[in-house]
Amino acid sequence: MTSPVVFVTREIADAALAALRDACQVVVWTEQLPPTHKELTRRVADASALLSLLTDPIDSVVMDHAPKLRVISNMAVGVDNIDLAAATARGIPVGNTPGVLTDATADLAFALLLAAGRRVVEAERFVRAGKWRTWEPRLLLGSDLEGACLGLVGFGSIGRAVARRAEGFGLRVLFCDPGKRAEFGAIPADLSSILREADFLSLHVPLTEETHHLINAHTLNSMKSTAIIVNTSRGGVIDHEALQSALQERRIAAAALDVTEPEPLPKGHPLLNMDNCLVVPHIGSASRRTRERMAMMAAENVLAGLRGERLPHCANPDVYR
Ligand code: DGY
Repeated sequence: MTSPVVFVTREIADAALAALRDACQVVVWTEQLPPTHKELTRRVADASALLSLLTDPIDSVVMDHAPKLRVISNMAVGVDNIDLAAATARGIPVGNTPGVLTDATADLAFALLLAAGRRVVEAERFVRAGKWRTWEPRLLLGSDLEGACLGLVGFGSIGRAVARRAEGFGLRVLFCDPGKRAEFGAIPADLSSILREADFLSLHVPLTEETHHLINAHTLNSMKSTAIIVNTSRGGVIDHEALQSALQERRIAAAALDVTEPEPLPKGHPLLNMDNCLVVPHIGSASRRTRERMAMMAAENVLAGLRGERLPHCANPDVYR
């Protein structure tokens, strides 16, 4: 019997590819940029499994071109790039990689919070530009963390990991996530009080219809003019035009974005040219150990799906009903 074909949409950790190769014919997309939608539909034609990344939109058209597809495994915790309803309707389980990237993402959220709060990138550019002449009492003043209020929108594992870090910095933490238990000294609150009180606002919700543009002209207007927004969730949670105006008009102090809408932002986008906006290229989970674990978990989901077993981490458990 010929072994099943797995299409892997980018080069991932060697150990994960080796685990797949033990049981399958592995076809890897080796380009730097993701396959186009057209290319994807072509490549899945004989695939029994698809190992995708968050940059690959997997819609019903892709699934309809994959008559043998038995499992989709996304190497990410977020699955907003996949039409889950279409997969469930076709009986295809969708895997994801929760848990393993919690700490790496929380670390980056904190790195961005500190960098934006203390203007680290601006300061570094200042030195590189040869502008540093002497120690100055008013040079590059930033925000204090001790005693400041950190608002967390979303209190899942990443939000909680950020709260745990915030304890050590003496931040007062408010969170909103209905039904979630308070932990690490964080206090539950509604979104409008968080927006009003936050000196730092960090977003940790998945992108859904409800969270799309949750941060918009209206919500930005209710924030402090000294507030700093950190986003390590999904770009679509923030309306970028509204953010741009709020930053330009100094209605909020700064933003630090690991994720944008779209990704990447087009060259010359105004947010890329503002001193009070810091943008990094979606590196929340980009630590060596984390990316290896994500790749291995994605491979395990593929192998379980091909064996006809329940996926260890399944984003559409309804598929098993
Ligand atoms: C995820 O897993 O959803 C992250 O955004 C990847 O860094």
